Amino acid sequence: MDKLVIRGGNPLLGTVRISGAKNAALPCMAAALLTDEPVILENIPQVRDIETTRKLLAAMGAEVELGYGRAHHRTTICAKTLAAPEASYELVKTMRASTLVLGPLVARCGRARVSLPGGCAIGARPIDLHIKGLEHLGAKITQEHGYVEAATDRLQGAEIVFDKITVTGTEDLLMAATLADGETVMQNCAREPEVADLAALLNAMGAKIHGAGTSTIHVKGVSKLHGAKHRIIPDRIEAGTFIVAGAMTGGDLNIAGCDSHHLTAILQKLAETGVKTAVKPDSVRVMGDQPLKAADLNTEEYPGFPTDMQAQYMALATQAEGTSIVVENIFENRFMHAQELVRMGANIKIEGRRAIVRGKTPLSAAAVLASDLRASASLVLAALVADGETIIDRVYHLDRGYENIEEKLKGVGAEIRRVGDLLPKRAVGLTRD
Ligand code: UD1
Repeated sequence: MDKLVIRGGNPLLGTVRISGAKNAALPCMAAALLTDEPVILENIPQVRDIETTRKLLAAMGAEVELGYGRAHHRTTICAKTLAAPEASYELVKTMRASTLVLGPLVARCGRARVSLPGGCAIGARPIDLHIKGLEHLGAKITQEHGYVEAATDRLQGAEIVFDKITVTGTEDLLMAATLADGETVMQNCAREPEVADLAALLNAMGAKIHGAGTSTIHVKGVSKLHGAKHRIIPDRIEAGTFIVAGAMTGGDLNIAGCDSHHLTAILQKLAETGVKTAVKPDSVRVMGDQPLKAADLNTEEYPGFPTDMQAQYMALATQAEGTSIVVENIFENRFMHAQELVRMGANIKIEGRRAIVRGKTPLSAAAVLASDLRASASLVLAALVADGETIIDRVYHLDRGYENIEEKLKGVGAEIRRVGDLLPKRAVGLTRD
């Protein structure tokens, strides 16, 4: 199993280019199931979750070409026939977002069989809201042997009010509603830019969606969707992670190819900690020449501060002067990075959904374990400022969502390399986000 070896202490200097958003690319790939014509997606990030989705779609009978190169990170998906509208446990267990195929499959094929995702180390992450919404649209749902089965002659438009804001739940039902008979109005929807990006693709495929990116979405069902070409938005979490890296290392880093409108909450919070930035529509320059000061943080649904940046913020808080209280409102049990940061010298106390981070503490290199995707990013950030050589085990979590992270970091001055097995293993839970 691969590990990252990072020697801390170098300020990050130069320009780093942001990849396409994994969390926008995944639902857009699932949307290709809604038509028998080819869907071409550009700016696809080269990360493991995309490869998992390729396998998932191919197992159903879709043809998926996936190619990466200097100019193109592109996939062409043609779901002409879907012989097996199913998502097996083997694939769903490694990536919870596989449940995104449920809505498109039942809408297009009239049936779907998708494994339940099961337990997860970043909290209970049920899919009850996806299921309830599909029932509102007229699907008959049964659960057996760990699988959800959905069946219908044709979905019927309906009013859906989400009990709780869910990103992939909103996306799943949005896709299903495009082919339903009549109008669907969805309320209390997720407002994430990834939802709006999916809607842009669906509209390019002939769907009639209004209001995506706000909490109320209207969908007029159509009988058929066609092929389309679409460019995936930049990854705001990758951009946020590099902004924190520039700030923590006292660097001068230009984060290029991002969409700074999607970064407002992150930039606002970092400004509170004393981080200086120069913001343009498609780039952020971070100048880490000021000492950091503590600031409390609450994770919220978009446009609030994203839970997917909480772990990275916690790494930064260990280097800020004073006490920062970090409250995780979206997921229970999403503080697994804290114990590893403590092993590196951080002073963090967890009380339920609150983490109390007392800084500034010097960090010292250690052998640490990545427990989920964003937790891994926080350990990379800590390692970049730690004294000595940190070895991060289980970097496959990182590879799920960060394209080429060691090359990108190396390009701006970090001392980082990837190696095979070096250490005895410690047991950790399985995670997916
Ligand atoms: C998505 C993102 C993930 C991010 C999360 C929150 C993708 C592929 N993943 O995950 O990176 O951390 O949004 O911004 O886009 N919930 C229910 N019932 C449901 C669905 C969700 O109770 O049916 C709860 C969850 O347990 C959680 C909250 O709702 O407490 C939000 O989860 P949700 O927005 O659905 O997260 P994901 O879409 O899985």
